[in-house]
Amino acid sequence: MKILLLGAQGQLGHELLRVLHGQAEVRPVARQPIPGWPETLVTDLASAARWDQVWPQFDADLIINAAAYTAVDAAEDDVENAELLNQHLPASLAQHAANTGAKLIHVSTDYVFPGDADQPYQEHDRTGPSSVYGRTKLAGEQAILNSAADALIVRTSWVYSGRRQNFVRAMLSRMLRQQPLKVVADQYGCPTWARDLAQGLAHVAQSWPQVGTLTEAEQRVFHLAGADMGSWYDFAQHIAQAAVELKLLAEAPELSPITTTEFPVKAPRPAWSVLDSSRFAQQFGYRAGGWKSLYACLEELKEARCWFP
Ligand SMILES: NC(=O)c1ccc[n+]([C@@H]2O[C@H](COP(=O)([O-])OP(=O)(O)OC[C@H]3O[C@@H](n4cnc5c(N)ncnc54)[C@H](OP(=O)(O)O)[C@@H]3O)[C@@H](O)[C@H]2O)c1
Repeated sequence: MKILLLGAQGQLGHELLRVLHGQAEVRPVARQPIPGWPETLVTDLASAARWDQVWPQFDADLIINAAAYTAVDAAEDDVENAELLNQHLPASLAQHAANTGAKLIHVSTDYVFPGDADQPYQEHDRTGPSSVYGRTKLAGEQAILNSAADALIVRTSWVYSGRRQNFVRAMLSRMLRQQPLKVVADQYGCPTWARDLAQGLAHVAQSWPQVGTLTEAEQRVFHLAGADMGSWYDFAQHIAQAAVELKLLAEAPELSPITTTEFPVKAPRPAWSVLDSSRFAQQFGYRAGGWKSLYACLEELKEARCWFP
């Protein structure tokens, strides 16, 4: 299988390169050259004029879009670029996929929901984003679903990995510096290890024939997030506990729960981001891990000795 992978140096993209290596012929697309991947198509996707020159450079059977404008707060003031990357780029990929017969996996987010529920969100639940990031990601989903592409959308949440800026690395870094930590305790979600997400997407790539039976647009949307839910405060406690067990920390740090209003940010955050991933499990026979995956990620960080951002 020949796979064109956009966003190959992001949290998810990096794990996809690792998981798909040896299983498929992968052509990464990234802003910078990737060591060990000389065939990378190096390009800045913020220029839409380039897209039609990039996609045909590789005769892909499957396109995986892990690229996105993910700076949630910056998006509030940079609407044009957020729309370009999160809405128009997926639309262009879907058009290309429809023209060439390539399949398309697009990754989306819990931010498409209003965040006011108290039960895990299912795929068909009412959307209602409250941020530019969420609105543009939802528009990207809709552009794909309205196209003739053989495409699937996989929504995830609270992604972390051993690379780049994310909650796990930020918390660990502060814990190692013994800084007192105040953590939001009234927003709930399912932390997702990028490795687990990548493995789930590899399952999708391998069992695509089943997908051909999904005729309704909404059936082409799946949720895949970590198996355990909690607040950011719970998440931080699990990070601290694992770090103590792994002897990264001598003792558990002091953590104080705070409310959303005590931690003002530019873009509104959904209070409830819990995704129900059971349909993905039924369709593809795969579930992402929960707190055990967090432990495995920290174990790798310890071995690599690269826990500081
Ligand atoms: N992170 C989360 O908590 C989270 C939660 C829910 C859903 N998601 C979704 O999951 C997917 C993967 O997210 P992630 O956590 O892996 O995000 P990430 O680490 O921020 O990766 C995003 C990727 O997009 C690339 N990109 C952005 N602008 C670009 C441009 N102008 N030209 C070329 N590449 C560009 C980045 O390139 P560079 O490497 O050059 O920066 C990066 O490789 C996204 O669709 C995101 O919306 C993420």
